[in-house]
Amino acid sequence: MIKPSTIDDIKMAMNIVEVVSDFVNLKKSGSSLKALSPFTNEKTPSFYVVPSKGIFKCFSSGKGGDAISFVMEVDGLSYVEALKYLADKYNIAIEEEIQTDEIQEVQNRRESLYIVLQYASDYFQKVLNTNEEGKSIGLTYFKERGFSDEIIESFNLGYSLNVWNNFYQEGIKKGLTKENLEAAGLVVSKENKVYDRFRGRVMFPIQNVTGKTIAFGARALGSDISKNQPKYLNSPESELYNKSRVLYGLFQSKKEIRQEDNCYLVEGYTDVISMHQIGVKNVVSSSGTALSEDQVKLIKRYTQNVTVLYDGDAPGIRASFRGIDILLEGGLNVRAVTFPDGEDPDSYSHKLGATAYVHFLTEGAVDFIKFKTSLLIDGINDDPIKKAGAVRDIVESISKIGDAIKRSVYLKECSDVLQISEEILIAEQNKILITRNRFNQKGSQHKEASVYLPLELDESKITDYSKIIAYQEKESIRVLLNYGDEIIQKLNKKEIKLWDYFIDESEDIEFTHPVYNKIFQLMIQRNNKNLPLNIEYFLSIEDPEIQKTVIDLCAPKYEISEFWKEKYHIDVPQEEDYIKDVTYSNILRFKFRVIQHLIEVQIKKLKTAKDGEIDNLLDEISNLKQTEMEIAKIIGNVTVK
Ligand code: CTP
Ligand code: MN
Repeated sequence: MIKPSTIDDIKMAMNIVEVVSDFVNLKKSGSSLKALSPFTNEKTPSFYVVPSKGIFKCFSSGKGGDAISFVMEVDGLSYVEALKYLADKYNIAIEEEIQTDEIQEVQNRRESLYIVLQYASDYFQKVLNTNEEGKSIGLTYFKERGFSDEIIESFNLGYSLNVWNNFYQEGIKKGLTKENLEAAGLVVSKENKVYDRFRGRVMFPIQNVTGKTIAFGARALGSDISKNQPKYLNSPESELYNKSRVLYGLFQSKKEIRQEDNCYLVEGYTDVISMHQIGVKNVVSSSGTALSEDQVKLIKRYTQNVTVLYDGDAPGIRASFRGIDILLEGGLNVRAVTFPDGEDPDSYSHKLGATAYVHFLTEGAVDFIKFKTSLLIDGINDDPIKKAGAVRDIVESISKIGDAIKRSVYLKECSDVLQISEEILIAEQNKILITRNRFNQKGSQHKEASVYLPLELDESKITDYSKIIAYQEKESIRVLLNYGDEIIQKLNKKEIKLWDYFIDESEDIEFTHPVYNKIFQLMIQRNNKNLPLNIEYFLSIEDPEIQKTVIDLCAPKYEISEFWKEKYHIDVPQEEDYIKDVTYSNILRFKFRVIQHLIEVQIKKLKTAKDGEIDNLLDEISNLKQTEMEIAKIIGNVTVK
């Protein structure tokens, strides 16, 4: 456990803007800073940092908190790991308290494994760069593959000597134990002899998201491969290494993945490394295994968009389709790029050079469902049985997509390409969804896409929104006029002026009604100058419309309470008593209406949209839908007076 005094030091040192800036691009916006949310793939910024309060607030995901919780959320760290990250950032020495024996033991064991693995990584790296065999065989090999010194260094590549147990001997001399070396999968003991697991191979350290080495991939060289040696030998799983929870290259790539808002997915270690070298640094590899749900979750921390890079022939690609469905199920937008015969992301990068390669990747990316459809349908259009199989396969993939609107668009497109009526495809899809839902009720917690229903659009509803919005605006202005200067307590017990609270929560709101908007703008000006928001000020403005509105809005609404109090000695709650709730629900309801309106408008556009516009519209709609749901969830819990 970290000492409380150390935690205090960290909290004192940490600065929300500095911490957040390592992950997102903040732009000034009034007294706060704004950015695209690192938690969702929104198109308009709804992620705020309020420096004066040391907090962030992400409207699209609902997440919020201080610098510690930001690091926890953004990197999926535990509280203690987040503290350690911050301590490291601010050069604060971590002082830990002794824990219970049991926890301490687990911690110690994990720590020892990390130490052993770090030692191994350093050892292999040193051998590669200074040992004769390391240089002449390992380093030469990497150089022949076109790896630069910098890239060899930044991926901590190494070499293991082709001898029985030099690594083991050296480790023991350094004070490491046989047990730990064995537990880390670095040595193997047989008949009282201990020998190194990796011999005569180039070494690729596998690191976790925080950059700690947890395993190795080791490639045999030249003629060794033919001598019954596997090309790659990987560390066995250990307390630290679970191969379905790791993505090779994520530590080196995570920043770019977030920046580019896209993650390239490749097959091997060398693909990741070559792409980095050529400047495409948002890339990870599942290291030759089928993608797991945990790996999908890892990617989703950084982006919602994945581009799968396929080398190999059509049968190979077909075999991998199942693995891709897991990305669709995870709600990711998936695209695919195929490489020419005999090329892979590594070889082709060397062939094309940086500019052409980047161009190839961006131009070559096609939507995964379209890609799969065209590949499966190729050449079987007049074989009804094969075609039926392919159609089912494609609809199966589409049904994995959680978003009903996206599914409906895909079904429509596929109906054109496959020349099968949309109704049949929908029926097929519903069959799959219903079977799956039934199956899922028996235990599985997996949430499934709901059955497709055609979108009904009630045109008459739309006009009502302007009325509702006007009402929301009026209510918001009324509350601000009457209580803007009041201090309220937030959920986290922090005290804040109601006005600041409103601004923090709603800076992206535009008032549509001209008078309310004028008043709101004046309020912003006043507040920026730190002047009180009293009614006298607004009444002094020579604008009859503003004056009238302000007077109307300031007329006491709950006069009756005094009467009750006097006469019956009953305490009727004053509006002030629940003003925080009123404001909060006002803001939320307000946003909710605006968002519903926007959704309707976008859906309407979708009906007449051209091919090229559909993707964008869908993205927008699904972002809006997500926000709408988040708000609906909260409104359900807010007491509305
Ligand atoms: N792999 C493995 N064990 C093997 C073969 C492959 O673990 N016996 C994994 C490795 O992670 C490898 C990936 O599958 O990086 C892709 O395999 P392959 O394409 O054969 O290797 P490359 O990474 O392309 O390596 P190279 O370019 O050196 O052949
Ligand atoms: Mn390769």
